[in-house]
Amino acid sequence: MKVILDTDPGIDDALAFVLLKAMPEIKLQAITVTHGNTTVEKSTTNALKLVELLGMQDIPVAIGANQPLVKALSVAEETHGDTGLGHAVLPPPTITVVKENAANLIIEIVNANPGEVTILCIGPVTNLALALLKEPSLRKKIKSVVSMAGTIHYPGNATPSSEYNVFCDPESFDILLHSGIDLTIVPLDVTYQCLFTKDHVARLKGVRADIAEFIDRSTAFYMEFHAEYQGIQGCAINDPLAAAILVKPELVTLRDYYLDVELHGDFTTAKISADHFNATGNPPNAKVAMEVDVEAFMDFFIERVKLL
Ligand code: BDR
Ligand code: CA
Repeated sequence: MKVILDTDPGIDDALAFVLLKAMPEIKLQAITVTHGNTTVEKSTTNALKLVELLGMQDIPVAIGANQPLVKALSVAEETHGDTGLGHAVLPPPTITVVKENAANLIIEIVNANPGEVTILCIGPVTNLALALLKEPSLRKKIKSVVSMAGTIHYPGNATPSSEYNVFCDPESFDILLHSGIDLTIVPLDVTYQCLFTKDHVARLKGVRADIAEFIDRSTAFYMEFHAEYQGIQGCAINDPLAAAILVKPELVTLRDYYLDVELHGDFTTAKISADHFNATGNPPNAKVAMEVDVEAFMDFFIERVKLL
């Protein structure tokens, strides 16, 4: 399966890198980086560090959008730390990004592989929106998009009603929603059930030592954030769940929905409007993960990471 990873690392993004490395079923074509959890410059440095940690140097890394399409830039250093990787410290990268920017690299790879490429978006979707704006015919050539984004019933983690990736760039998400691309959404409703705890860290015995240490140090910060800001024990590993369903779709139960995103609310900007009873009469434009087998996902994550 050919996949482009679009990401804003980010602690849970970093865990998605680890899982992707442990899923040989996936042939990563590129890693495209966006603003989101931190600035695109820091996210890109983190992506390069992770590529080196995991020995993925054959995969091109492209720097992407440094700001959303319309609104001002947001970063989440209270959630992911000043560097974006919590308490983890990785050596400075010795590799660098490719010449093409993220949107252009997405266009190039999809055009070279029409109908074959899935884009896994685990940050704000600005890079993909820019690619679609530049080359509208791309929507017909992208096989599918899986996006960790939004919330249907669960409270927002960015505002009371919005999820962070959509909050960062709602206009880009609107473009994706109405693109006609085969779209699977992995919202907080399922990811906030997947709480990675110290018990899971303890189960990492036997994992390559530097990777185990990275997971321990980065998630320690993420757990502190969840405890302090949200009263949650453990940390929601949102992005790895979106990666996992590429290979194990049975981990989640999908429901077809017609979705919109609020762009101009007083209190609800970036909230997802999900048409439960088909009040709009519009056909579904997304498959949304509404249930997850938490234990199966945690076991899958740990078992796969042990293979590295
Ligand atoms: C999403 O926002 C970011 O903080 C995480 O990396 C994840 O992609 C969760 O709302
Ligand atoms: Ca992310």
